[in-house]
Amino acid sequence: MQLNTLEDLFADELKDVYHSELQLNHALPAMIKASSCVKLRTALEGHLVETHTHVVRLEQVFNLLNLPVKAKKCSAMEGILKETEDIFASKIHSDEIRDILIICMGQKIEHYEMASYGTVCAWAEVLGHHAIVKLLVQTLNEETRAEEHLSELATNKIKAAAIEMHITCAEGYENSQT
Ligand SMILES: [Fe+2]
Ligand SMILES: [Fe+2]
Repeated sequence: MQLNTLEDLFADELKDVYHSELQLNHALPAMIKASSCVKLRTALEGHLVETHTHVVRLEQVFNLLNLPVKAKKCSAMEGILKETEDIFASKIHSDEIRDILIICMGQKIEHYEMASYGTVCAWAEVLGHHAIVKLLVQTLNEETRAEEHLSELATNKIKAAAIEMHITCAEGYENSQT
């Protein structure tokens, strides 16, 4: 594919984002299954439903651009998901520690998606694709909320793990992260 214009880049990046969402749809059920904490499972289940919607929105974007719905291999998401699979294969005896690792990978996934959607939103804006901006911003907001939720869970989990291991939280951390 020729990448000479911002329109070319935009179309190419959409295919990459589409592939990362397809991979996530496939990977999230295993992350849910491996999670012990009900709150974490509920958060991931909720985000799996949203991820289905993200795929549909991208298909709408391709349609609005009169482009075929097409994916292009996203090696970055593939790499993050490979690291996530490595957790499932590791010998981890503590459910808390496994949950903390799953949250960590979930946050990496969401940050990657936020970067991708931030970029395509900005490009769509510059290109004057206003209806497409609306669709992509909805997804960007959902990715951001998902990350914030995981971040909250991470803080609580880390504190619980610290108490279990008799580690005193650094001064200020306890008060500022409730
Ligand atoms: Fe997504
Ligand atoms: Fe996401």
